[in-house]
Amino acid sequence: MRYNPLKQTVLALETSCDESAVAVVRRNGKKLDLLASGIASQVEEHSKWGGVVPEIASRMHLEVLPSLLENVLDKFEEGIEGIDAIAATVAPGLSGALLVGSVTARTLSSLHQVPFLGVHHLEGHLASVALSDDPPKTPYLVLLISGGHTELIHVEKACLYRRLGRSHDDAAGEAFDKVARLLGLAYPGGPAIQRLAEFGDPLRFSLPKGRVSKPGGGFYPYDFSFSGLKTAMLRKVEDLKLLKEPLPVNDLAASFENVVAEVLVQRSLHCAKEEGLKRLVMVGGVAANKRLREMMSHAASKASIELHIAPKAFCTDNAAMIGAAALMRLELGVTSSSCELGVAPRLSLENSQMLYESPPPF
Ligand code: KG4
Ligand code: ZN
Repeated sequence: MRYNPLKQTVLALETSCDESAVAVVRRNGKKLDLLASGIASQVEEHSKWGGVVPEIASRMHLEVLPSLLENVLDKFEEGIEGIDAIAATVAPGLSGALLVGSVTARTLSSLHQVPFLGVHHLEGHLASVALSDDPPKTPYLVLLISGGHTELIHVEKACLYRRLGRSHDDAAGEAFDKVARLLGLAYPGGPAIQRLAEFGDPLRFSLPKGRVSKPGGGFYPYDFSFSGLKTAMLRKVEDLKLLKEPLPVNDLAASFENVVAEVLVQRSLHCAKEEGLKRLVMVGGVAANKRLREMMSHAASKASIELHIAPKAFCTDNAAMIGAAALMRLELGVTSSSCELGVAPRLSLENSQMLYESPPPF
């Protein structure tokens, strides 16, 4: 490996769910530069089925990845010769989909004699904020909100995580997707709801905020529950349909979006304050939501909490964030993952260190 720790360049692959993505990311001192990238979304195909179909996802990754890789390497002037390490998402996600990226990356790594790094998808989301102009200093609290996860994570220093809060049922993105389906909107639900909500009244319908009870009484202060909200939306829609009038979809979308944003803002800021953290980071697909970004910025500035939101383009799944996570591991002294490392559809973020163990744990 051409070793220059301040100028390492990673070729990164992301295939954990329904986006095939490839990127070249370089550490440039304290900054990360995205030198080339490409993304092939499968959303149109899956939207026909109302959600992601795992078999279709793996097949489509297999079909598009070779040409995507070629395009991205064409855009990167130095080509494969300029690559110091090859990274791929190996956990968590759909196993077949993960395998496509992982096998491709390991093959390229042995062919070109550069190290392979398996990356945890959630570590990728967390690292996405490093692609902003003003990355946060540790320690900080992260609100990670995606299609599969809703978590509050204390990051004490790079790659050292402690989960403080989580959803007990649906993830925030999953709630957007399910409510969108209820309103007759296309998958993925988040952007569809955001579009309608812009024209709706966010205060028209009162909706539950999903507090999670403790067995002995009281509530888990940093936890979330979205299933009651989803049921409340279903009841409202059923009641409104009895009126035999057009559904007020804009108001329904706006009220739903507003209550989800309120819950996320209140619990994150409460957690940051109680834990004595002055910095809050927001990442993941749902962090692309405009109303949420505005409400969080407003509330954080009122509470004198420094807020860092991942750039919008890096909120939803992408390969640049996987490259950013790999660069972070390299900076911490990791040299590679085993080329025999498999995929782990359910590995938790706290166990992501396992991806760099030898012999590999799976
Ligand atoms: O992070 P992501 O791309 O994939 C996962 O790792 O899950 O997140 C996808 C989720 C979907 O549920 C999608 O509906 C939601 O993010 N999402 C949004 C927005 N854009 C994407 N939710 C609310 N508002 C948006 N603008
Ligand atoms: Zn994701």
